[in-house]
Amino acid sequence: MSNYHIKHLEEYFQVYRKSVRNPEAFWEEIAEEHFVWRKRWDNVLSWDFKKPEIKWFEGAKLNITENCLDRHLPTRGTKTAIIFEPNNPKEEAVHITYRQLHERVCRMANVFLDHGVKKGDRVCIYLPMIPELAVALLACARIGAIHSVVFAGFSSNALSTRINDSDCKMVITSDGSFRGTKSIDLKGIVDKALEECPGVENVLVVKRTGSEIYMEAGRDKWLQPLLDEAYADCVAEIMDAEDPLFILYTSGSTGTPKGMVHTTAGYMVYTAYTFKNVFQYTENDVYWCTADIGWITGHSYIVYGPLANGATTLMFEGVPSYPDYGRFWDVIQKHKVNQFYTAPTAIRALAKENLEYVEKYDLSSLKVLGSVGEPINEEAWHWYNNNVGKKNSPIVDTWWQTETGGIMITPIPYVTPTAPTYATLPFIGIQPALMDENAKEIKGNQVEGRLCIKFPWPSIARTIWGNHDRYRDTYFSAYENMYFTGDGALRDAVGYYRITGRVDDVIIVSGHNLGTAPIEDSINEHPAVAESAIVGFPHDVKGNALYGFVILKETGESRDRENLKREINQQITEHIGPIAKLDKIQFVSGLPKTRSGKIMRRILRKIASNDTSNLGDTSTLLNPEIVQEIMDNSL
Ligand code: WT7
Repeated sequence: MSNYHIKHLEEYFQVYRKSVRNPEAFWEEIAEEHFVWRKRWDNVLSWDFKKPEIKWFEGAKLNITENCLDRHLPTRGTKTAIIFEPNNPKEEAVHITYRQLHERVCRMANVFLDHGVKKGDRVCIYLPMIPELAVALLACARIGAIHSVVFAGFSSNALSTRINDSDCKMVITSDGSFRGTKSIDLKGIVDKALEECPGVENVLVVKRTGSEIYMEAGRDKWLQPLLDEAYADCVAEIMDAEDPLFILYTSGSTGTPKGMVHTTAGYMVYTAYTFKNVFQYTENDVYWCTADIGWITGHSYIVYGPLANGATTLMFEGVPSYPDYGRFWDVIQKHKVNQFYTAPTAIRALAKENLEYVEKYDLSSLKVLGSVGEPINEEAWHWYNNNVGKKNSPIVDTWWQTETGGIMITPIPYVTPTAPTYATLPFIGIQPALMDENAKEIKGNQVEGRLCIKFPWPSIARTIWGNHDRYRDTYFSAYENMYFTGDGALRDAVGYYRITGRVDDVIIVSGHNLGTAPIEDSINEHPAVAESAIVGFPHDVKGNALYGFVILKETGESRDRENLKREINQQITEHIGPIAKLDKIQFVSGLPKTRSGKIMRRILRKIASNDTSNLGDTSTLLNPEIVQEIMDNSL
């Protein structure tokens, strides 16, 4: 029996039991047999959720790019590592072999070295979904620099905040990006961001759109000529198992975005192992994850997990609606995709369109369908299963988080019987717990509670960059000796998990994790606004949409309301990005507050969702009369 590739349900239970009875022995075996190390570890695991401190494979030395690239060269040198499918279907797709990818990574790594980037330095990557994005991540890893990818849909403000938070000294970007019929001036956004970022010394620019851009002398350089001149091999920096590999920002319920820090060895082992099993990847399969590398899904399941397995991973630059709503299915047919991994919001959007868009294409290559980012509703699940999978491809509803680094609760296709809306069973090595109001674990089945994890797994984030206290407070203080996920979940009669959604002030819109605080801060900066509160409400494509309750200052009272709404959304777009725009804005004269001054979002959530039959206990409100007023004018 190979513990690395699980093929039957009994095997899953057997390996699962082994992985929780003796996690150290289990992960040691996986690490030993499936990766290359420069030096073996001294200790598999040490952990303390109180500090918190978690270390996997301490003492080991390795470079993740040797695992993702070099070791495949003898056997997979001519195999395609990355298929690049451009935005415009008329532009030819590009196949990059493992040998070519190795060379491109080495060249870029050498360019970084030439620009003074050293082990431990932070490099910000702000690129569209083009091959250079994957190459840039790996080039950082090659030389031990810590990459911080910022999704190229974020605004200049969001970008500068992230650059400064982690003191990035270099930025990799492009002149622009293509998205459907639009092209976006990425370099302009970077220029604006860098007005606030004195620590950035160099900006390397990929030419993608060919648009005219400003280049600041001494700071900005075109990347390609440097790559052409660079040496095609680069010695890998030998890293400690616990050296940071990357920082990736995620929203919190309060405050600024959190720079989650992932380290090298554990992250590699866990993403590779989950990739192999959750997608049942076998040699020569073509795997496609539609996420952007700007999110954790792209880091773990476009770049590191697939490449560590020597897989062929597809990168798509475009959008599902261009040139028409058949694009995803066209790409699957064209590249004979075997595993397809996308988000419920995309499925719901495509399910609204004419079925002919799907039926036109031959999707018979598909073996596994995946879903990630938010709960998948029953209707979307069936549409996906019937029309894309033709009831022949199991759907893996994978629950996990930026913080967890890899997939945590999921079916294993052809192994775990699936059930709509259920993420089903914990993955190997994962020990979930449901907690009640009194912070006690709820045992048994057919129960519901707050989802925690009891024991460390190799790819858990180790800290928040520059703020370890916040890391402890956010994840390890609510329940003793547990990692708290922020999600609610239920466990059914057979032990299957169903994620019910966030229990904090994070709202998932189109699969994007948005914290209420930064959006409210942005609204409040408008000169006419006194105060605001935002909540989520159900939306049939986005899953949730944002509803803002806004109190105007006296000076704002006389202004044109529609204009104000536009300005508020414009401001959010500038501060955060278009993904955080509000669908509905209601001007109110007050917000329901507790005596301690906390906004009672529970009530606002109900009003926004049109679910006001039972508002619960409002007796602790300072201003109960405001509730009726808000209800009477709700949108
Ligand atoms: C939050 C994490 C994991 C990569 C993408 C999102 C929600 C994620 C599922 C799922 C129900 C899900 C949770 C989680 N979520 N996957 N299969 N079913 N909810 O990463 O931005 O860190 O968001 O996304 O609420 O806490 P993220």
